Amino acid sequence: MRIVMVGSGYVGLVSGACFAQFGHDVICVDKDPEKISRLCQGKIPIYEPGLDRMLADNVRAGRLSFGTDLGDAVAAADAVFIAVGTPARRGDGHADLTYVYAAAAEIASALRGYTVVVTKSTVPVGTGREVARIIRETRPSAEFDVVSNPEFLREGAAIEDFMKPDRVVIGVESTRARDVMAAVYRPLNLIQTPMVFTNIETAEVTKYAGNAFLATKITFINEVADLCEKVGADVHDVARGIGLDGRIGRKFLHPGPGFGGSCFPKDTLALAYTAREVNAPQTIVEQVIEVNNARKKRMAKKVIDFCGGSVTGLTIGVLGLTFKPNTDDMRDAPSLDIVPALQAAGAKIVAFDPEGMTEAARMLEDVAFAKTAYDAANGADVLVVITEWHEFRGLDPRRLKQAMRQPRIVDLRNIFNPDEMRGLGFVYECIGRPAPRPY
Ligand SMILES: NC(=O)c1ccc[n+]([C@@H]2O[C@H](COP(=O)([O-])OP(=O)(O)OC[C@H]3O[C@@H](n4cnc5c(N)ncnc54)[C@H](O)[C@@H]3O)[C@@H](O)[C@H]2O)c1
Repeated sequence: MRIVMVGSGYVGLVSGACFAQFGHDVICVDKDPEKISRLCQGKIPIYEPGLDRMLADNVRAGRLSFGTDLGDAVAAADAVFIAVGTPARRGDGHADLTYVYAAAAEIASALRGYTVVVTKSTVPVGTGREVARIIRETRPSAEFDVVSNPEFLREGAAIEDFMKPDRVVIGVESTRARDVMAAVYRPLNLIQTPMVFTNIETAEVTKYAGNAFLATKITFINEVADLCEKVGADVHDVARGIGLDGRIGRKFLHPGPGFGGSCFPKDTLALAYTAREVNAPQTIVEQVIEVNNARKKRMAKKVIDFCGGSVTGLTIGVLGLTFKPNTDDMRDAPSLDIVPALQAAGAKIVAFDPEGMTEAARMLEDVAFAKTAYDAANGADVLVVITEWHEFRGLDPRRLKQAMRQPRIVDLRNIFNPDEMRGLGFVYECIGRPAPRPY
């Protein structure tokens, strides 16, 4: 198969590299010339474990290339994937489809012969039909089908997710397009990946329903954690106790400062917006959005309360800024709520993140960036863990204690053992695991 990825961000690059790994001929196109020029020099514009190697291997094998012009590439393609961004629209929070529709018009002008145009971007129900309409209007003679193939990969584990997905969802309405999509994903037959073939609207709704459900699960356990804190229960044991029930499942039951990232916040908003438009309000999802936003804001107050009601003049060491570990993605990260609120309350912030500091420096003001986690702890009055990077779990608490001005930790990801930390003399607070009460 000859494949074009339009948009070479997290999804486009990973999908392009993995399709090339499947053995297809892939061209990743992006309108950002700097991104493409870096890729052509073998430099990766994002941090995603394993991606550098996979890109290099497939470029070397002649199956993968990069460009800014989709003209020739689209003309020769069997399938063109749209993997451009669909951020929340300013003002109302609906998905901004400007990039998707612009890509559709550009693709339309370049089509030659039968081609399948696939929306891989997360797009509200009805977008596939609109993409088809735009292509038809731009090039009435074009021979094409539109397919919806939402992507479920997780940043930080994107390659594994793409190469061994739980399932592939394909919204397709012609046999010809279905045959092309089956050929694109044929290598996954070997590992018996379930393929859910359905209509376009169903595929579009499936993506949003999946993300909204996961966001709900996180928000649910976060609220249970609040309850645990009040009544002396341990949320980890509660999560295990309910998660071992096969109907519930153990994943996504880890409490924290609230979900962020490039998908859940905008996708829950877009789903709620679409649903209201068609008068089928998703009130649970609306509640999840509200509860989560309030939670992210409340986390700074948790730190301030922990410090006795004021952080004025204190130095706060922050561990982790990205919305989750193993990515450099800062989009809608909880740190973007927590850090400015602590600064507004008079604290000085010294932060460390293994991969996110370049991006964070663009989004946060007046933060001193440390070279290591220990440097962030150096002279700190309190240490706040915001992202659960694996390397933080291995930090030596004794060394942290020595480095800090006061041995105080607010662990918003529950990466440390409370008994151990308290035993070592830390004043330690985490989420949903209150200090033991005397009998
Ligand atoms: N990031 C994730 O974890 C993830 C997971 C599943 C689905 N998605 C969805 O996939 C889509 C892409 O997300 P992302 O995180 O990769 O976004 P991104 O912002 O990292 O990348 C989008 C890229 O598209 C490029 N682009 C925009 N218009 C273009 C055009 N007309 N021609 C060529 N390039 C163009 C941009 O320059 C950018 O590089 C979104 O709809 C997102 O919701 C993302």
